[in-house]
Amino acid sequence: MKHYPYIFTPMVVHGRVLKNRLAMSRAIPTFTVGVEDEKPMASALTYVGDMAAAGASIVPLPAVVLPNPHTRPMQMPPRPFEMDDEEEGKMPKPDDGLPTEKTHTEGVDLSLRNNRIFYARMASAVHSYGALCSMGISDAEPRGWDISDVPLEVLEELPDRFARAAADYASLGVDVMNVHMSYGGTLLCRSLSRRNRRTDKYGGETIEERARLTLEVFRRVRAVCPDCILQVQISGEEPGAYTTEDLCRYVKLWEGLVDLIQLRGATDAAAHPSGVNSVRGKPVTLEYAKKLKASGTSIRVGVVGGYGDPELMERALKNGDCDLIYMSRALIAEPDYAEKLLEGRGEDVTPCLLCNKCHVRPGDPDFG
Ligand SMILES: Cc1cc2nc3c(=O)[nH]c(=O)nc-3n(C[C@H](O)[C@H](O)[C@H](O)COP(=O)(O)O)c2cc1C
Ligand code: SF4
Repeated sequence: MKHYPYIFTPMVVHGRVLKNRLAMSRAIPTFTVGVEDEKPMASALTYVGDMAAAGASIVPLPAVVLPNPHTRPMQMPPRPFEMDDEEEGKMPKPDDGLPTEKTHTEGVDLSLRNNRIFYARMASAVHSYGALCSMGISDAEPRGWDISDVPLEVLEELPDRFARAAADYASLGVDVMNVHMSYGGTLLCRSLSRRNRRTDKYGGETIEERARLTLEVFRRVRAVCPDCILQVQISGEEPGAYTTEDLCRYVKLWEGLVDLIQLRGATDAAAHPSGVNSVRGKPVTLEYAKKLKASGTSIRVGVVGGYGDPELMERALKNGDCDLIYMSRALIAEPDYAEKLLEGRGEDVTPCLLCNKCHVRPGDPDFG
């Protein structure tokens, strides 16, 4: 019988207790979100409860519960609520000029009463397991711009946009605010890139100059949510944009503002659910984490992508290679994940098969 004391050692982050070192990275199967009788489907509530029951100390809430006609969410709602061509045509484009107020979460989703009630219910479902819940606040960003082309006034507005979304989610019981900065997908991570060609205050040759936008956003979020955990999900390197050594220097500048770093693979393909996002027994994000920890950061460092083997995870935590392990599919595959480990039955854990059926829409002909 094997026990895992390091996995089950609690950790205090920004005054909040994480009951163990198992967190969940954002992973909401499409079939769990949608609308029934003009209310969010109960399955999203069941799902976040299941993930908390599986033992995650942090459980992400779905980005979209009711359909939002003004943004194309990263996490697509089920088919009946997809935008038709007419709605798609109404979406703001970068060349329409400044994005409207309705292009971010604060403007639409959370103004819907049912959605607000539902978020609060999901948060309390997670809390009832002694876990914390997280929510992405990067929908506050307008989409589709290249960092070098965004009008200055759009970037100057960003800190307030993030702060409004964060304050709103905090009022609903969300504990962890997640800023999506992985694989070049958002303006904030593009601002850090060597490809950032801006000549104003948000660009420049140095790490310090390119960090300015992120620092302004983090400071504003911190100011309105002093008690929340601020988590940044970011690739450990981005070829052509920044190296892991660059990242270590950025992270140094974020000391005292950011509480948790969730390290992802370099590209979408390497970080998203796939059978090849990690070499078995040698996860790439652990190599990034080792470098970040060696840089002396006091920010807690977590890894994601292909984890689930308790022996490997226990060893990584014991060695101090990382502080936290984020998982998605391992927790979906095994609803009693933490319980089995706690009982010393790690060998009984049902492994994820990496089939990725949880990541597709029901009925997708490619997946049967
Ligand atoms: C069903 C599903 C939905 C996901 N949706 C998102 C998402 O909306 N945003 C995101 O950043 N990652 C998303 N992911 C990626 C996971 O957070 C994670 O990075 C990936 O699954 C690799 O970790 P794993 O091997 O522990 O599953 C999703 C994963 C799954 C399985
Ligand atoms: S076995 Fe397949 S459906 Fe189940 S969690 Fe793993 S990838 Fe998802």
